Amino acid sequence: MRLDKLLANMGYGTRKEVKQLLKQKGVTVDGDVVKDSSMHVDPEVQEVSVFGERVDYTEFIYLMMHKPPGVISATEDNVDKTVIDLLDPLAQHFKPFPVGRLDKDTEGLLLITNDGQLSHNLLSPKKHVPKTYYAKIDGEVTQSDIEAFKQGVELDDGYVTKPGELVILSSGPRSEIELTIQEGKFHQVKRMFESVGKKVTYLKRLSMGSLVLDESLELGDYRELTEEELKSLIN
Ligand code: URA
Repeated sequence: MRLDKLLANMGYGTRKEVKQLLKQKGVTVDGDVVKDSSMHVDPEVQEVSVFGERVDYTEFIYLMMHKPPGVISATEDNVDKTVIDLLDPLAQHFKPFPVGRLDKDTEGLLLITNDGQLSHNLLSPKKHVPKTYYAKIDGEVTQSDIEAFKQGVELDDGYVTKPGELVILSSGPRSEIELTIQEGKFHQVKRMFESVGKKVTYLKRLSMGSLVLDESLELGDYRELTEEELKSLIN
């Protein structure tokens, strides 16, 4: 990879700005000052430093975001802010994208990465990756809803869902529940409740596969996955 591309990818500025760094003799490769921005380097074996600070080159970025309401799970949008707009420029350099979609008004766990293979594995219907949601429901959620979700319910387009595991946290005219599903149809949780005559008034994703929302993240905040989180997601 070209040295200027590597440094630009790692957030050291535009290629033009990187050229300036090289001019200032700020960049070394294996300890030697380099001035040629087109030099090819192998970040796996060569040690690149900027003003003495080692550049830890990584190709992939893995972020956990606590998605806030009001932003779109997409890389760009003509009208609304996207989850990518919430990232700092350093993270945006990696051209990450959200793994799957949460509705604009849904909050909670969102994985953001540029690892297409991982994204594919997590979203593939064949992999049955469970996703758990917390929701507030207008209406009394009952044992018969638990049974219905266990059997699978028919959505407005005729699709019959795979079994979902519904846990009632509190029941009354307004109920609180947790629902685990292994699919990701459009508006699935909201439509499942519609099919039993109830309305989701608040929805938050708590987990996806082994990845659990870090509740210490404020709405709109994000952090890199820990090594353990990443390992268990990949395995
Ligand atoms: N189900 C929904 O209805 N909305 C979401 O955002 C996620 C799952």
